[in-house]
Amino acid sequence: MINNLLVDDIRRFFFIFMTGLNTLQIILTAALPILIVFILILVRDNSRFVIRHYRVSDGRIPKQLKLVFITDLHEKSYGENNRKLLEAIEGICPDAVLIGGDTIIANRVRKLARRRSGSGEILPVGQWCGCSLSLMKGLTDKYPVYFSNGNHETKLCTDPAAGPWIRTFYKMLEDCGVKILNRESTGLAESVILYGLDLPKEYYRKFRKHSLSPETVRELAGVPDRDSYNILLAHKPDFFDAYAEWGADLVLAGHVHGGMVRLPFIGGIVSPNPSLFPKYSKGEYENGSCKMIVSCGTGMHTLPLRFLNPAEVSVIDLGPETGTGEL
Ligand SMILES: [Fe+2]
Repeated sequence: MINNLLVDDIRRFFFIFMTGLNTLQIILTAALPILIVFILILVRDNSRFVIRHYRVSDGRIPKQLKLVFITDLHEKSYGENNRKLLEAIEGICPDAVLIGGDTIIANRVRKLARRRSGSGEILPVGQWCGCSLSLMKGLTDKYPVYFSNGNHETKLCTDPAAGPWIRTFYKMLEDCGVKILNRESTGLAESVILYGLDLPKEYYRKFRKHSLSPETVRELAGVPDRDSYNILLAHKPDFFDAYAEWGADLVLAGHVHGGMVRLPFIGGIVSPNPSLFPKYSKGEYENGSCKMIVSCGTGMHTLPLRFLNPAEVSVIDLGPETGTGEL
């Protein structure tokens, strides 16, 4: 009797074990191809960039103007000395190139600077900003190039050890012909003005909700010219309402890296802040007559994660109102 009970228990255990194993095998068999496809897309999206076109028209823009907008390069190089990126831009023939910040990786520079803070030595550029500089040099040979800070540059400006490094970086940018627009503006064409917003690092603090007033944008970017078409280089897209109220006609932003992982019908999943489902992650947005273009960025840092979200070089064709000129 006892033996029979034992045999029954063993049979029951064997049945449960086999049923469990089969279910596990089925799950693994189904999950494996999905995992392989996921990894393949991940590898592909981390190693390429696409050229994305946008068109903007406004009566105050006197003639056609082609701008290339690059942001969040984060020391990425496509080919040696960013050759592939430069070739792609050469094919576009822009009137100007706008750089929206985050060209370097702040933590990498800060670590290197702190290790050498006693000696005051600044390492050769190849070790911390070589990819960015080779791109800038290649660009300034052919086009006017304008640069405005992202949070990675801003963070270093107030760091005691890394401060001299970022000032060296700015000097090298200027030496190769880049016009730095931190809280400055410049004319791109007759009645088309470009402003560089330089947000203090407090507006990038993690795990906090930030707000920005149009008055603060005025302090950080300057006073907009109401008779001109005003383009604002604003790294962080979250403050779109304030930018529009300030007087921007076109805002160019990045920072969110497209939401890193993008899913159909959902969009970007996570911003580097980090925050889930960022409101502005990629593409065009409108607020009254103000338009904002958010680039997916051209590089990544810390966690190189791009899924259905390749890097982007944005091309913006500006022109007069439809019907009054060709676009
Ligand atoms: Fe950023």
